[in-house]
Amino acid sequence: MAVLPALLALGLLEPLASAAAVGHYGPDLTPHVSVFQGTIAGGNNFPGVARPFGVVKLGPDLYDGRSDAYSGYLSTGNFSGFSMMHEQGTGGAPKYGTVSQLPLVGNISQPLSHLTVGRSGADSGSVGYYRATTAQGVSVELSASAHAGIYRYSFPRASPGNNILVDVSHVLPSFRGMGLGQNYEGGSFEIFPDGHYEGHGVYNNGWNEAPDWTIYFCGHFDAPYTTGKVYVGTDESGSVEQPSKSANSSSGSTRVGGLFTFGRPEVISRVGISWISREKACSNVQEEIPRGTRFMSVVEDTKAEWNSKVLSKITTTAGNQTSLSLLYTSLYFMHLIPTNQTGENPGWTSTEPYYQDIFTFWVLQPTAYEEQIRSLIDIWRHDGYLPDARSSNYNGRTQGGSNADNVLADAYVKGVRGAVNWEDGYRAMVKDAEVAPPNDPADPMASDSSTHEGRGALPDWLSLGYITPRFTRAVTRAVEYSCNDFGLYQVASGLEKADDADKYLNRSRNWRNHWNPNATSLGFSGFVVPRDESGFLSTDPVHDTGYWGDPYYEANSWAYSWNSIHDMKHMIDLMGGPERVRDRLDTMFKEGATGSSGILFDPTNEPMFNVPYLYNYVDRQDLSVSRSRQVAKQYYGIGTNGLPGNSDAGAMETWLLWNMIGLYPITGQTTFLIHSPWFESLTIDLGNNKKLHITSTGGDGNGDTDFYVQSLKVNGRKWTKNWLSWNDVFENGGTLEFQLGSTAVNWTNGELPPSPAS
Ligand SMILES: *[C@@H]1O[C@H](CO)[C@@H](O)[C@H](O)[C@H]1NC(C)=O
Ligand SMILES: *[C@@H]1O[C@H](CO)[C@@H](O)[C@H](O)[C@H]1NC(C)=O
Ligand SMILES: *[C@@H]1O[C@H](CO)[C@@H](O)[C@H](O)[C@H]1NC(C)=O
Ligand SMILES: *[C@@H]1O[C@H](CO)[C@@H](O)[C@H](O)[C@H]1NC(C)=O
Ligand SMILES: *[C@@H]1O[C@H](CO)[C@@H](O)[C@H](O)[C@H]1NC(C)=O
Ligand SMILES: *[C@@H]1O[C@H](CO)[C@@H](O)[C@H](O)[C@H]1NC(C)=O
Ligand SMILES: *[C@@H]1O[C@H](CO)[C@@H](O)[C@H](O)[C@H]1NC(C)=O
Ligand SMILES: *[C@@H]1O[C@H](CO)[C@@H](O)[C@H](O)[C@H]1NC(C)=O
Repeated sequence: MAVLPALLALGLLEPLASAAAVGHYGPDLTPHVSVFQGTIAGGNNFPGVARPFGVVKLGPDLYDGRSDAYSGYLSTGNFSGFSMMHEQGTGGAPKYGTVSQLPLVGNISQPLSHLTVGRSGADSGSVGYYRATTAQGVSVELSASAHAGIYRYSFPRASPGNNILVDVSHVLPSFRGMGLGQNYEGGSFEIFPDGHYEGHGVYNNGWNEAPDWTIYFCGHFDAPYTTGKVYVGTDESGSVEQPSKSANSSSGSTRVGGLFTFGRPEVISRVGISWISREKACSNVQEEIPRGTRFMSVVEDTKAEWNSKVLSKITTTAGNQTSLSLLYTSLYFMHLIPTNQTGENPGWTSTEPYYQDIFTFWVLQPTAYEEQIRSLIDIWRHDGYLPDARSSNYNGRTQGGSNADNVLADAYVKGVRGAVNWEDGYRAMVKDAEVAPPNDPADPMASDSSTHEGRGALPDWLSLGYITPRFTRAVTRAVEYSCNDFGLYQVASGLEKADDADKYLNRSRNWRNHWNPNATSLGFSGFVVPRDESGFLSTDPVHDTGYWGDPYYEANSWAYSWNSIHDMKHMIDLMGGPERVRDRLDTMFKEGATGSSGILFDPTNEPMFNVPYLYNYVDRQDLSVSRSRQVAKQYYGIGTNGLPGNSDAGAMETWLLWNMIGLYPITGQTTFLIHSPWFESLTIDLGNNKKLHITSTGGDGNGDTDFYVQSLKVNGRKWTKNWLSWNDVFENGGTLEFQLGSTAVNWTNGELPPSPAS
């Protein structure tokens, strides 16, 4: 790991050295990555080109007049542009799709009228490379560096009608009608005497209801065009060519842009972006993709960076091509966001790193992980609160708790230190736990309290120890605030703040105040339910799933009743003991439990991620193995529909990867539940020359059959607990040697994973 920054620099500065670098650092693993995996059927994966954590995510934007294209891509529809900025795998409503180009053949009289062009055949792509063909026969190839992109256009023939359109007003639209569509609010466009163009665009809204934000761009063509025209477009007067070479607009109703017309069939364009200035956008493209750069060298550099920084971190002897593809494709989609915007923070100047967009954190990347934690804390320093789903440099939107607390607690207990200022980190967490954020601006979909940052329902939480229906999402927030407070307990303990630790451990038990022992459903009693000062309110635990304005957000009380894993022992008591808990878990997976083909377990979303593994807490590790394996094999695949739900910045893929590894991490604790690995051998590079080796014998080598654990050695010693700790195998590396077999046996000594709040 220590050598990686040097390799990266080599890749960027000396394009020709990269092929050698790949050879030197191991095999090319990029062919195992399927960039179209999980792109449709709700997965919303981004199939275009990006570097790991790269600011630029260059890909197609599809338009069919009715479907939200969350990451730009749809398998059908017309191209509305090929743009530089995208999210990865989110839902809700699209964000970005900004800074685009679109190739168009013919005479274009109204360039700024939201033009689209049909698609010819399916797009193709691989790590570092994307190709699409328009219905007019233009092939568009894309590649990218961290802050710039390169387009290679091949028009069908030399012709005076080969155009490239730049429409500054271009964004990904939303058709959901929930007030979450993005808006263009003005911009500038200017063509310079040497032929390059510069400008900026201002946009707002989208899923996180962001206020105005600005992005700057700087574009070059590596061939002279015959004409380059600047346009201003309005609905009333249409697109009007400007006499001067620049156009400015401070209004969303006035679009600006340009049309470049080439006689030649081959055109390369290089575009830089920046959150700071036009000048920075120009220096970004000049430094990363200078004039004369061969298109394929950018592709090769991108592949080299993915190999060295990400894919080579896990190696395996597995031979099954499907499983290898699942493994490396998962790793790939886990590393597109957060975006490393260090040096590109428009909000403040700081020596700290700066990351934004949602967090997927991962032990493979100790350097990035430390930078991300520092960035979270720096956002609190300058914006007043830790972020949650920060996008376009705007904190929020917060669905449940202040879950950056969980991320910080997890990093703390897993030993992330380095340059992290943990006293400040803890102060930031205390702000979440003690100071309700101002409700300004109010969220139209939940106007009771802030969804922007922090914990909107804190007044009830502090004064009552539960959350009344005065606040929306009351039950979801209560169980998540409990978990957040447990995170404070963890960090307070580590920093030897004993009084605080007591206080927050106590508060982490307040989920119990929502537990109604008399609420029943499907023969089980005891659920977390809404309540007010006079007592519990009735609910239907199967059907009470809701959204922003409801007591439960995106999952029902069956799901949220499992949430408080830090207090599992007490939860098991409340549920009636281990046998009842096992039955209850079985019921989660029972076909028809909720009606004809209904099943309670929902693999499509985060609230139930833990559920298949909870059998470990009732000493039935074998059932964790079989349930979780069934979920992994049934719901995940390498196809375009290969994800059960929104990738959510790689969260789904992370779940799958842990299933392959044979461990399941409990967020905010040092505990890893043990289940069963897929492969005969898998090695994780933990950085600083530390490695975790996982081997298995007696299985089928692919996790399809014979997956029950018969015995286990940890670091060479017989192991009889169904869990282990961070320090056992991650802190300094280690080995896990599994003996697998076709039948479930009891290989454990009955000792259960910790329940620190019980
Ligand atoms: C897609 O493009 C074709 C050809 O230009 C056009 O006829 C069609 O209306 C477009 N579809 C949409 C949804 O814009
Ligand atoms: C495009 O415009 C030129 C000049 O106005 C004209 O000569 C030509 O016929 C037009 N081509 C098409 C395909 O309309
Ligand atoms: C637009 O703004 C730029 C930068 O401020 C300026 O150089 C240019 O002259 C302006 N163009 C017009 C048409 O106002
Ligand atoms: C490869 O793995 C997939 C997914 O687990 C499985 O369906 C398939 O049967 C395996 N192929 C072979 C040849 O074992
Ligand atoms: C994040 O970006 C900065 C600036 O480009 C760079 O110095 C740093 O190494 C990057 N971090 C990682 C983990 O790649
Ligand atoms: C724990 O919380 C209860 C009420 O929820 C309170 O009565 C008690 O004083 C608290 N203990 C500590 C140590 O804060
Ligand atoms: C549950 O029901 C029992 C029997 O009706 C009653 O005695 C008890 O008070 C109820 N508990 C709660 C918390 O409502
Ligand atoms: C497994 O064996 C251990 C040790 O004999 C025992 O304590 C435990 O109860 C057993 N677990 C089950 C589920 O039978």
